[in-house]
Amino acid sequence: MPKELFFPVIETERLALKPLTIDDSDCLLDIFSDPEVMRYWNTAPWTTVQDAIDFINESNDSMRRQESIILGVYLKSTGELAGKCMLFSYDKESKRAEIGFGLGRSCWRKGYIIEAGEALIKYGFDSLGLRRIEAEIDPNNRSSGRTLEKLGFSLEGLLRQRWEVNGVVSDSAMYGRLVSDFSA
Ligand SMILES: CC(C)(COP(=O)(O)OP(=O)(O)OC[C@H]1O[C@@H](n2cnc3c(N)ncnc32)[C@H](O)[C@@H]1OP(=O)(O)O)[C@@H](O)C(=O)NCCC(=O)NCCS
Repeated sequence: MPKELFFPVIETERLALKPLTIDDSDCLLDIFSDPEVMRYWNTAPWTTVQDAIDFINESNDSMRRQESIILGVYLKSTGELAGKCMLFSYDKESKRAEIGFGLGRSCWRKGYIIEAGEALIKYGFDSLGLRRIEAEIDPNNRSSGRTLEKLGFSLEGLLRQRWEVNGVVSDSAMYGRLVSDFSA
C-alpha cells in the first residue's frame, strides 16, 4: 500500500489530525503524565520527556511498517495539541484494526473525540478498506464507553481479569463497529 496512506492529515471542523513530531514531546508528556488521563490505561503515567520521545519514534516506526496510524489531535484555532488518536494492531488480511484515544484534561467534554473519532473511523473504512474496528477498554471507564457508543460501537463482550498494571487487576470490555454498521 502507498506509504502516504499511513501518514494522513485529516481535517474536521475544529481539529487537524496529523502525525506527531518530536516538537510535540513536551506537550505530549504534559498530557500523558496526568494520572487522571492514564487512570484506565494499560501502562503507568509517563514520567520523563524521553517517554514521549520514545512514543513518537515508535509511532512513526510502526506507521512506516504499515501497522498503525497514530495521529496528534490539534485544535485548528490555536494549534494546541489536545491529545492523540490511533488505529493500531492493523491486520491487513482480516481488514481489522483497533482504535484508541486520549485527550488532555482541559480538552475533555467538548465533543473533540467524537469529532476526531468519526473522521478517523471514516478514514479507516474508506481509505484503509477496513471491515471492522474494535476497541478494548476498562469497563469502569465511563467516558470511553460512552464515547464508543456515540461513535456507533457495540459492546461485544467482557474479558475477565485481563490486565495487571501496578498490581491492579482489571477486566476488558470489547467493543466493535463494522463497515456495514457504518453504512446502515
Ligand atoms: C475518553 C475521552 C477521550 C473522552 O473525550 P471527551 O472529549 O471528553 O469526549 P466527548 O466530549 O466527545 O464526549 C463523548 C461522550 O462521553 C461523555 N463523557 C465524557 N466524559 C465523561 C465522564 N467522565 N463520565 C461519563 N460520560 C462522559 C460525554 O458526555 C459524551 O456523551 P454525551 O454526548 O451523551 O453527553 C477522554 O475522557 C479521555 O481522554 N480520557 C482518558 C484517556 C482514556 O481513558 N482513553 C480511553 C482508552 S482507549
